[in-house]
Amino acid sequence: MRRAVSRAMAVFVTRRISAEGLRVLAEAGGCRVQQWDSEEPVPRAQLLAGVSGKQGLLCLLSDRIDREVLDAAGPSLKVISTMSVGFDHLALDEIKKRGIRVGYTPDVLTDATAELSVALLLATCRRLPEAVEQVKNGGWTTWKPLWMCGYGLSDSTVGIIGLGRIGQAVARRLKPFGVKNFLYTGSRPKPESAAEFQAEFVPLTRLAEESDFVVVTCALTPDTQGMCNKDFFSRMKKTSVFINTSRGAVVNQEDLYDALVSGQIAAAGLDVTTPEPLPTDHPLLSLKNCVILPHVGSATYATRTTMSVLAADNLLAGLRGERMPHELLL
Ligand code: DGY
Repeated sequence: MRRAVSRAMAVFVTRRISAEGLRVLAEAGGCRVQQWDSEEPVPRAQLLAGVSGKQGLLCLLSDRIDREVLDAAGPSLKVISTMSVGFDHLALDEIKKRGIRVGYTPDVLTDATAELSVALLLATCRRLPEAVEQVKNGGWTTWKPLWMCGYGLSDSTVGIIGLGRIGQAVARRLKPFGVKNFLYTGSRPKPESAAEFQAEFVPLTRLAEESDFVVVTCALTPDTQGMCNKDFFSRMKKTSVFINTSRGAVVNQEDLYDALVSGQIAAAGLDVTTPEPLPTDHPLLSLKNCVILPHVGSATYATRTTMSVLAADNLLAGLRGERMPHELLL
């Protein structure tokens, strides 16, 4: 049983979300919901108008919540609940200064995102989109010993950038494929998490040099922004595969493009890019050895429903001045 919001509270929801999440808000007596009820992002002007005078804001990772939005909301804004585990779209310093609480949705999308990371890795290293295309365009003429070969996981070294919840879940899923060594890097060693995979904490440079597969699952922070750059790719093996399911800005895309075109690395699979969506004429999309997905890591029906309910629960708890199921402590 969810308790009613004590005083009438107004909230702005920046997108169409699953009915279950909205129901949670609707059933919280005294919560007045205004929503941008569309699959497409709320235009900036409507976001600024929508948030004005509200106590709560339920937003997505594609909404940039900066000083302008906070000013437009005014002093009434008490809680921001993002339907995402990532929070790089939120101006946290400014939010903290104003005493606004923040909810987010970790854990509930870990499995879906790890599953997608593995799917993308396999699709990339075994060249599945290219192979499917060959079947459709007549390129499949016969069984050919040297055709459509890729790289497998058996006996490989996998390097994980960011051994957090999602990084660990990826390693757990990859281990049964016969991975020989796991390396990881991050802001600090995590011996308890690493023990399950006998993963070794190494500097980024060594991870680049020794990994057959690099999987990026870290958060986007000032420290990780542009971390996978020319120097990083130049250290990777020509036979190595690069996968990113975290945030596009961790990667310098021009440097990645050069590494893919020159054969410095074998292939890349990206679920995240800069910008999103990636323009359809972007050079990366012209490459056969680059598989790009439209940021669908958490896109299972169940996960998106759970995320919307958790985001609604976080918002309501914040409005009631209670403990949120998942609060980002600022
Ligand atoms: C998040 O929640 O931050 C993910 O990127 C969505 O899949």
